[in-house]
Amino acid sequence: MTQFRSVVRGVGSYLPERILTNADLALMVDTSDEWIVQRTGIKERRIAADGEVTSDLALHAARAALKDAGLEPGDIDLIVLATSTPDNTFPATAVAVQAGLGITHGAAFDLQAVCSGFVFAMATADNFLKAGNFRRALVIGAETFSRILDWTDRTTCVLFGDGAGAVVLERVAADEANGAGILTTHLRSDGRHKNKLYVDGGVSSTRSVGYLRMEGREVFRHAVGMITDVIEDAFAATGVDAQSLDWFVPHQANRRIIDASATKLGIAPGKVVMTVDRHGNTSAASIPLALAVAHADGRIKRGDVVLLEAMGGGFTWGSALLRW
Ligand code: ACO
Repeated sequence: MTQFRSVVRGVGSYLPERILTNADLALMVDTSDEWIVQRTGIKERRIAADGEVTSDLALHAARAALKDAGLEPGDIDLIVLATSTPDNTFPATAVAVQAGLGITHGAAFDLQAVCSGFVFAMATADNFLKAGNFRRALVIGAETFSRILDWTDRTTCVLFGDGAGAVVLERVAADEANGAGILTTHLRSDGRHKNKLYVDGGVSSTRSVGYLRMEGREVFRHAVGMITDVIEDAFAATGVDAQSLDWFVPHQANRRIIDASATKLGIAPGKVVMTVDRHGNTSAASIPLALAVAHADGRIKRGDVVLLEAMGGGFTWGSALLRW
């Protein structure tokens, strides 16, 4: 039986126009640029315009990824869209993207794993492609977290922003892939921590949307250990290590979490792609946003070994190791 690999063909991203700086936030809540930069590394974030919904952001990112791949929408037969901020309760935001692209074949669905959503979506698409079910997938992370923030709560509203990123994955016979493609994925969750980072509303509980609530210190306390665990799993499964890795593209939640994880794993600072300063924590969108930047500026090149990781609400956490 033919063995398949899921190879990255293109990447794209989109940030809404409106910039909200730390100085802007200091006019809204009792905070300061100094506090936010020192604790998180975030300098500004983007806010979707009135009427601009998650699928709008996702469509921009998807079109950019298709352009980068040199493909047409009709070449795609699977869309997996990770989001915690869908346009509507249903249908899936992914079908709005599918319709926006004019695709009428294949399948499109949403996936919800909060900040880990993009890694979970990559793993899901990878397995569908490797199983031979689909040929080319758009894997999208898209969020409008500004809509679920309590803008009077300084402990959370300074951390998050809106954005979208997308990757095109293509199924290629393993012996024709020249070693490229997703090498391994590792997903974890532990629902005992579900109340440490959550939204205090929902369809079935309150019939409303609710606001994001977080025990920031608790999240921080668990993050580094969970992240390093799934990365060590990826290293053990492939023989890749911190030295042979080319790029580390972590979920962009917080500079301190990223720095601490890289230090613990022995990953050199020069290999870490960091974009959190310019868009804050965009949850499922943050990894493809960072990937798009490092691909566009020429850092990530064909043949490079790239490590993705994320940790978020649930808790959920995961890693994906790939050769570009
Ligand atoms: N501006 C100024 N002061 C603030 C702010 C703010 N925006 N927010 C909190 N403070 C105050 C607190 O009220 C507290 O004051 P007190 O000492 O008078 O009570 C003080 O700052 C220290 O608060 P801590 O919560 O202990 O601050 P800490 O150093 O832990 O930093 C932070 C808070 C940045 C949230 C940190 O805990 C963190 O990074 N946690 C991880 C959270 C995260 O990244 N979540 C993202 C989602 S999960 C994920 O994506 C991985």
